[in-house]
Amino acid sequence: MANHSLEVLISAEQIKDKVRELAKEISKDYKARTPLLIGVLKGAVVFLSDLIREIEIPLEVDFIAVSSYGADTASSGIVRIQKDLDQSIKGKDILIVEDIVDTGLTLNYLFENLGSRQPNSIKVVTLLDKPDRRKVKFEADYCGFKIPDRFVIGYGLDFNEKYRNLNDVCILNEQP
Ligand code: IMP
Ligand code: MG
Repeated sequence: MANHSLEVLISAEQIKDKVRELAKEISKDYKARTPLLIGVLKGAVVFLSDLIREIEIPLEVDFIAVSSYGADTASSGIVRIQKDLDQSIKGKDILIVEDIVDTGLTLNYLFENLGSRQPNSIKVVTLLDKPDRRKVKFEADYCGFKIPDRFVIGYGLDFNEKYRNLNDVCILNEQP
């Protein structure tokens, strides 16, 4: 990776504050309910693990895996479920937890797919949002940070499966 350089876009401290803020809002909105948080593997794992520990109401957790961009940084536009949920979501209050909304294709697909399984409600929380890159209209119910159209890594987000363990969200600059 010698031909790449990293630039901090959002610091660990800023993320921590934002996660607390989102958790507070979610705890208030879902008061007296037990939401099922569905983490979208693998990118959302770090965000989800921090988020659930700041939420002060009872909750459940499950995971779903969908096809990603593979080794490329550009969208293939293809969405496929690679690992489905362990349980029925009928009658449940679903909160999809995602790392980033980019083209919107993944969440648009998941929202429709999970929505067809008769949940009581379905909402989306994303840490990051790149609104400039949308191919389909999609707005998350809770959003941490709107970011410019740059490829970012860290805090769960990867480039070729690397960098997920960084504490900050960084821009990956390719050197000429
Ligand atoms: P969408 O379907 O284009 O909205 O893509 C969403 C998925 O693409 C995210 O869950 C990420 O896994 C991946 N992705 C989009 N942008 C980035 C990025 O800047 N860095 C790393 N992964 C990204
Ligand atoms: Mg993802």
